[in-house]
Amino acid sequence: MRSVVVSGASRGLGAALAEALAAPGVALHLLGRDQAALEAVAARCRGRGAEVWCAALDVVDAAAMAAQLREWDRERPVGLAIANAGTSGGTGLDGAPEGHDAALRQVRVNLEGTLNLVEPLLPGMLARGGGQLLLVGSLMGFRGLPDLPAYAASKAGVWTYGEALRAAHGLRGLHVTVAAPGFFASAMSARVRGRRAGGEVSAEVMAARLLRAVAQGRGRVVSPWWLGAGLRALALLPPRLGDRLARLVRFRVVPGR
Ligand SMILES: NC(=O)c1ccc[n+]([C@@H]2O[C@H](COP(=O)([O-])OP(=O)(O)OC[C@H]3O[C@@H](n4cnc5c(N)ncnc54)[C@H](OP(=O)(O)O)[C@@H]3O)[C@@H](O)[C@H]2O)c1
Repeated sequence: MRSVVVSGASRGLGAALAEALAAPGVALHLLGRDQAALEAVAARCRGRGAEVWCAALDVVDAAAMAAQLREWDRERPVGLAIANAGTSGGTGLDGAPEGHDAALRQVRVNLEGTLNLVEPLLPGMLARGGGQLLLVGSLMGFRGLPDLPAYAASKAGVWTYGEALRAAHGLRGLHVTVAAPGFFASAMSARVRGRRAGGEVSAEVMAARLLRAVAQGRGRVVSPWWLGAGLRALALLPPRLGDRLARLVRFRVVPGR
């Protein structure tokens, strides 16, 4: 039985990943805060033949996350863990700063939440000779854009953490795929007002791209790749020139969950 954990599985990309993975012989462990939404995803996954367990948890609650993950790992040793839960903030519609609480919340959910998922599972994976991690970052992590400062910082952290884990434990059988998606349709992206360079694909298409990268054992997946390359190039420019170009890419984020 293939045992998989997915955080942020109640909607959006996490739900699409769970459904794409659902099949006979797969044990899915779904995390999110909205129990009813999780159960709806679980029912669809069971319909595809998977066995499914759900837990309504905030990924920021390190103690509760560790207890739940260790229990699942004891019962059905986890082979693939997907850190997908995320939240976004951004500057106000009037360009006002995000504010300390909102900025901190993004770092806690996106980065700390990733650590809270990975760290409890890592010792078991290494003791068993390896495992797979898929860490969902963002293209926004490649160069700070003016309207999403804390989000960009949290996603840069997710990317860097995954790269470090791969370098540290790759020779011991740990396969880490760090993902930097561009826009895909979801509740999160629906709150972002602004031109989407690179367009917007469906959550199902993005999920398929990320899972293909995991299946192929790729260490990174950047989608679309050319936008990732452009943002990386922007990050290499002298700060004043880079800032001037970054100011051409503006977003306004409508507050939400
Ligand atoms: N949408 C995009 O264009 C885009 C682009 C690049 C990267 N991403 C990243 O892709 C991932 C999925 O995004 P999405 O667009 O699918 O977002 P979404 O539709 O808003 O879904 C976010 C998921 O994360 C869960 N979540 C949020 N805060 C949580 C918390 N504190 N504890 C537990 N679960 C939490 C939500 O579940 P509950 O509300 O039930 O807790 C939900 O299942 C995120 O990491 C996001 O940053 C998105």
